[in-house]
Amino acid sequence: MKLAIQNIVCIGAGYVGGPTMAVIADRCPSIQVTVIDRDPARIAAWNSATLPVFEPGLDAVVQRCRGRNLHFLPQDQGLPALQAADAIFIAVNTPTKLVGDGAGKASDLSFVEACARYIAENAAGHTIVIEKSTMPVRAADAIKRILQTNARETSFDILSNPEFLAEGTAIRDLEKPDRVLIGGERPEAIDALAEVYAQWVDPGTIIRTNLWSAELSKLAANAFLAQRVSSINAISSLCEATEADVDQVAKVLGSDSRIGPKFLKASVGFGGSCFKKDVLSLVYLCEFYGLDAPAAYWQAVLDMNEWQKRRVGLAAAKHAAAYARRIAVLGLAFKKDTNDFRETAAIDICNHLLAAGFHLSLHDYRVDSAAFARQLSSGPDASLAFARSPEEAIRGADSVLVLTEWDAYGQLDWAALRATCGQAPAIFDGRNIVNRLAAEKAGFTVHCIGKA
Ligand code: NAD
Ligand code: UGA
Repeated sequence: MKLAIQNIVCIGAGYVGGPTMAVIADRCPSIQVTVIDRDPARIAAWNSATLPVFEPGLDAVVQRCRGRNLHFLPQDQGLPALQAADAIFIAVNTPTKLVGDGAGKASDLSFVEACARYIAENAAGHTIVIEKSTMPVRAADAIKRILQTNARETSFDILSNPEFLAEGTAIRDLEKPDRVLIGGERPEAIDALAEVYAQWVDPGTIIRTNLWSAELSKLAANAFLAQRVSSINAISSLCEATEADVDQVAKVLGSDSRIGPKFLKASVGFGGSCFKKDVLSLVYLCEFYGLDAPAAYWQAVLDMNEWQKRRVGLAAAKHAAAYARRIAVLGLAFKKDTNDFRETAAIDICNHLLAAGFHLSLHDYRVDSAAFARQLSSGPDASLAFARSPEEAIRGADSVLVLTEWDAYGQLDWAALRATCGQAPAIFDGRNIVNRLAAEKAGFTVHCIGKA
């Protein structure tokens, strides 16, 4: 029996669900796409002029489709769409578990399981249920069990269709993905989803696998990417000790076609909602299957990242401690071109500096300051202010920490800024984007990652 997808529902209107469904609606005008979420405020934002997710190009895509074949509804109003759906994407969060078996490492599947129960109770006819969230390998077993136990006169196919978009480039990644991965059991269900993507993606880039390879490939892909960042960061510290230059080393490595040039940018450490939790999930899975050496191998990728964050923060603290203890922090997002600050290096570094009693002035172009402030716990002697511009943040600073690679931080007028700073200001550039020559000429000491 050939399956066709005309009506899609996505549960979860977050950084993945919103942009992914917007692009599907944009590229497939004949498909009705409804995104539902249990958080009514998030849905209201998707229906407003200020979307809850900042992504270059997203506003235009949403404007073209919203109200036409793209709909954002609170969960309680989404039932008719759910009953009419041929395919339901689950794109809810799968954070690290905080309590119970595997706490601190394993993925918390309770949100996914709640979706599976909701689908089992409310879907009608035959439905293709698609894992879009990142899952531990064999998670589809649990979803299948819930669907089979709770289903009434309904039947289901389960597919794993992990998402590979990166924030800041999500629309480009969705419109022209390197590959689309569809794992499943029945070829008819895989074909039905492949036909949706084939409306704009080169069919040759659609990879079909079994369920377990798809689930594991997603975790492995993030682990490999995180491992590259940790590898170049490990080299960066050796560069500083030996007068090698990490950008030069990265260029040499990247020009080897077997290694390739991407993901070799030394930094203050990777952040974001996924690398840490997905590598932890992989560590947990290895331990669960008794594979201690692989577990230790992946854990080292995370340990290296923590070490890198700590050493950059400590260097800025050491310098500012000799003066008025004022530190400007430029960049709170975990990378440029996003308002997302989940697991950003800035949270750990700021908390460490606040606990040690430093006075911080923070700046970012997109991060919501009130939401960021809720991640911080201030020490008794510390103080914290959010600045409207990098210039305002830098005023009076002894140390300037650059933690996000916003392009504008690379164009700051250091000569003009020098007079507004403390007596011997130093810049700690966690992204190697500061115009070092200009800053040094203006009288700043500049510390870069991986450079003497
Ligand atoms: P998110 O936190 O931004 O969004 C998840 C949404 O799901 C929230 O709005 C939440 O209210 C909603 N939700 C949770 N439980 C629900 C339920 N039972 N019913 C209805 N709504 C519910 O998360 P995200 O960043 O979009 O990530 C979602 C998944 O995609 C995760 O598994 C993540 O690992 C994966 N992923 C994320 C990215 C990324 O760039 N953020 C990229 C690839 C994969
Ligand atoms: C990452 C992956 O790139 C996506 O393929 C994946 O879909 C996503 O995780 C996910 O599963 O959530 P994302 O976290 O949005 O995407 O952004 P990345 O571009 O991967 O950057 C992650 C972190 O690594 C950022 O803090 C970034 O600044 C840092 N990074 C990246 C470096 O420090 N150096 C680099 O060379 C590259």
